[in-house]
Amino acid sequence: MAIRYCEESRSFQLDTKASSYVIGVVDAEGFVGHAYFGKKLGADDVTYLMRTGENPFTPETNARDRLSFLDSFPMEYPCGGVGDFRESAIVVRSSDGHRGLQLTYDSHQIFKGKKPLEGLPATWGSEEDTETLELVLVDKALSLKAILSYSIFEGIDAVVRSVKLINESQQPVLIDRIMSASMDMDNREYDKILLHGSWARERRIDRTPVNYGIQGMSSIRGEEGHQNHPFMALLDKTATEDAGDVYGINLIYSGNFLTQTDRSQFDSVRLMTGINPEGFCWKLNPGESFQSPEAVLVYSAEGLNGMSHAFHDLYREHLIRGEYRNKKRPILINNWEATYFNFNTEKLLDIARQASQLGIEMLVMDDGWFGNRFDDNRALGDWFVNEEKLQGGLRYLVDEVNKLGMKFGIWLEPEMISPDSDLYRAHPDWAIQIPGRTAGLARNQYVLDMSRTEIQDYIFDLISKVLRSANIEYVKWDMNRPLADIGSYALTAECQGELYHRYVLGVYRLQERLVTEFPHLLLENCSGGGARFDAGMLYYSPQIWCSDDTDAIERLSIQEGTALIYPLSAMGAHVSDCPNHTVGRTTPFETRGYVALAGTFGYELDVTKIPEEDRNMIPQQVAMYHKYNDLVRTGDYYRIASYQQNHMYDCYMVVAKDRSEALVTFIQVMGRANAHSRRILLKGLCPDKTYRIEGEERTYLGSTLMQAGLLVGNLWGDYKGKLIHIVEA
Ligand code: GLA
Repeated sequence: MAIRYCEESRSFQLDTKASSYVIGVVDAEGFVGHAYFGKKLGADDVTYLMRTGENPFTPETNARDRLSFLDSFPMEYPCGGVGDFRESAIVVRSSDGHRGLQLTYDSHQIFKGKKPLEGLPATWGSEEDTETLELVLVDKALSLKAILSYSIFEGIDAVVRSVKLINESQQPVLIDRIMSASMDMDNREYDKILLHGSWARERRIDRTPVNYGIQGMSSIRGEEGHQNHPFMALLDKTATEDAGDVYGINLIYSGNFLTQTDRSQFDSVRLMTGINPEGFCWKLNPGESFQSPEAVLVYSAEGLNGMSHAFHDLYREHLIRGEYRNKKRPILINNWEATYFNFNTEKLLDIARQASQLGIEMLVMDDGWFGNRFDDNRALGDWFVNEEKLQGGLRYLVDEVNKLGMKFGIWLEPEMISPDSDLYRAHPDWAIQIPGRTAGLARNQYVLDMSRTEIQDYIFDLISKVLRSANIEYVKWDMNRPLADIGSYALTAECQGELYHRYVLGVYRLQERLVTEFPHLLLENCSGGGARFDAGMLYYSPQIWCSDDTDAIERLSIQEGTALIYPLSAMGAHVSDCPNHTVGRTTPFETRGYVALAGTFGYELDVTKIPEEDRNMIPQQVAMYHKYNDLVRTGDYYRIASYQQNHMYDCYMVVAKDRSEALVTFIQVMGRANAHSRRILLKGLCPDKTYRIEGEERTYLGSTLMQAGLLVGNLWGDYKGKLIHIVEA
């Protein structure tokens, strides 16, 4: 890992473990260009890739074709309004209403370590394992300064980028658009992968060609939403799971985003990501600065699995924080699918008594314990214990659960307000809405204006009182509707365009307070299932609820898409009852356990009511979790076969970092008549090591398991599963 500046070629080279990222400065004006991102280079200068020796040359030598230059040069951070006709990364409006901006090189700084991003989640690192380049660009006409930051990390093939814009003029400017990263690449007939979805069907993988013009994905829901995801992979057409060039880009942000490609007349592809400009306008007063969220760029020469490994390692080692970052999480049982709103102290204690005997370690009380919350039509914002349901109070319940040897966790939805709540009756202007227009309801609720610190503080006081009133060791932080009717009673007319982003900053501030004031708390984020499974949230919570769909077969695809970017340690996954509440499917209890094992693992059922044979299986599943969780949480994950693609079976494996052990999960989704066994080629093992399959006598070389593979026999029936544990002999 190293960042080098070469005075002679005016270039910066960022070398990670196996990749290089090269930026060049050209012309007397100091245009900053992108020269290269790919497999690690030697010491050679590659700034010729910016093609300044070809027509139209640089303005210095060919001023008559300045616009041709601006429209074809591979800009490192393209500006709008002065002649680059491709999509810009940044657009500002000066106080006299003009949109032109030209940021050129001013200075730079290279240093060990990395600065935090004010108010925003971001990767972190120490002086030993992280290095940063800050490129300072200026627009002299507007007295604007932009600091482009790039950091790299020891042993990880990722470059993280962000932008800080500083107004050094005497006039305010309006920022209409400010992307976190942009990269102009030569097109090699790329494909792209986007993740699309829906409620209970999150993060499905979709691979299509990169065509001319603009393509991409965005959100205007105030969160990324179930439907879209702030991620894109660009792949060489021939790239596969294990081979070929793949570029991944992901935004560390939990609000409106835009991720897109713009393929030009010269077949270059401009890839960018950042806050969605739609609905965004930020007034930057003299002396103020605006910090963009951070974007992560990953290059892998080893196909999609290599890309996933880089994201997983970066997020496990340099994004997730707190006590549980490297720790096994308690096996929880959540009462949502068990009782919905229909519970009381006795019911919860019945569940806890039974669960504790089976080895389950934590009871999580879901929605319905507060205010007048007997259904989902009321009481959000009234964070007071409903003593009609919780007879004896919260403290009594938690103490009783603790006496059983279990921890206790609670559900909260702090960002919301029901029209039928004491809070709304007292403060109708605390809801996000446009004056004079009836705001739309979703799940019969409004969104609190979290851009306002007095509202954040009020809610924080309420929830912290609850958390201090008993030994609560876990919080599920939910968010069950998108933002609409965007209006804040606290913002001036010219600043209403700041609401979406200020809302996200408010949520971050609240979660930061929560994890600071309750450092031992295990926080799990959630949003109607998995609508906020993003890298921003991972900075505050080491795990996120993946989806409200707990069906084992649906989960194969949801978890596959999620694990394309995010580590298994972060994926909230539970065993639930059948027929499954979202799809009505019945799968073997055993299979449900295998699939949940690829995440945090827990239960979401009424353990007092499930069939006896299922209940009897729980102690074995608990033992299975304890046996394999260290491996699953910390190892390298490999996709072997995708049910979403082949419609028959699914297979993935996790290999220990030292390659001494691996766990293969095989799920036969559809049984097949008269079928041979399936040949599974394992991945990631050490070719020269000798391995044994647990329960079998013979040994295999790693190379045999990877090249000749294993035969997995027909499992007789649909939805059947098998775990194969491989250990060094
Ligand atoms: C969301 C969550 C569920 C549950 C309900 C409660 O949908 O994803 O797990 O907590 O809210 O209302």
